[in-house]
Amino acid sequence: MNFRLKQRFEKKFDEEIRFFKGWKQNMKAVGSIIPTSGITARRMASVINPHSGLPVLELGPGTGVITKAILEKGVAPQSLVSVEFSTDFYQHLLERFPGVDFINGDAFDLKTTLGERRDQQFDCVISAVPLLNFPMYKRVALIEDLLSRIPVGRPVMQISYGPLSPVVALPDRYQISHYDFVVRNIPPAQLWIYRKAH
Ligand SMILES: C[S@@+](CC[C@H](N)C(=O)[O-])C[C@H]1O[C@@H](n2cnc3c(N)ncnc32)[C@H](O)[C@@H]1O
Repeated sequence: MNFRLKQRFEKKFDEEIRFFKGWKQNMKAVGSIIPTSGITARRMASVINPHSGLPVLELGPGTGVITKAILEKGVAPQSLVSVEFSTDFYQHLLERFPGVDFINGDAFDLKTTLGERRDQQFDCVISAVPLLNFPMYKRVALIEDLLSRIPVGRPVMQISYGPLSPVVALPDRYQISHYDFVVRNIPPAQLWIYRKAH
C-alpha cells in the first residue's frame, strides 16, 4: 500500500474509532454507530449558498464529516457556526478545523447555546442531530426554532434513517420535502428539507 493511501486509511479508521467511542459513551445522543459517508455529507452541503453573506449553522458535527463538506462547498471557516453536545467531539473538532466557531452546547436550547450570536440570521441549517431519539414535541420545537433563524424559503437540511420525515407535517407552519435517499451510507440515509410555509 502506498504511503499516502496508508495515511488516508489510518485517518479514516481513527475517525471511526473515535465515533464508535462517542457512541458507546452516549448512544442516545450520538444516534448512529458509524459517521455519515462523504457522499451524504456533500449532498447535505449542496443546498448551501456560499455567496449569501450569511453564516451557516451546523448541528451535531460529531467527528466532522459534514463540517468538511460544508467548508469544501466554499464556506469560510469563520462563517460556520457548529453546535456539538459532546465535549470529546467538540475538543477534537477545535483541533481539526481551526477558525470554525464550534460551540459545546445543546441544539435544543439555541437561545442559550448561541450566546452573543442568538439573534444571528443564518443562510441555512445542516443538521445531523439524531431527531428520532427525541420526543416529537421537541423535534417540532427545534425545526420551528431553526426556521426562525434563516430567511423564508431557505432550508433546514436534516439527515434521518427512517422512511418517514422525523418531524410531523404541520403544513400551515412549515413545508416538508424529501431531498434524497443515499444508499451509500451505513445505514442508508434519508435527507429531509424543512422550509417556512410563508
Ligand atoms: C448521528 S451523529 C452525526 C455526527 C456527524 N455529523 C456525522 O454525520 O457523522 C449525531 C451527532 O449529534 C450530536 N448531538 C446529539 N444531541 C445533540 C444536541 N442536543 N445538541 C448538539 N449536538 C447533539 C451527537 O453528539 C453527535 O455528534
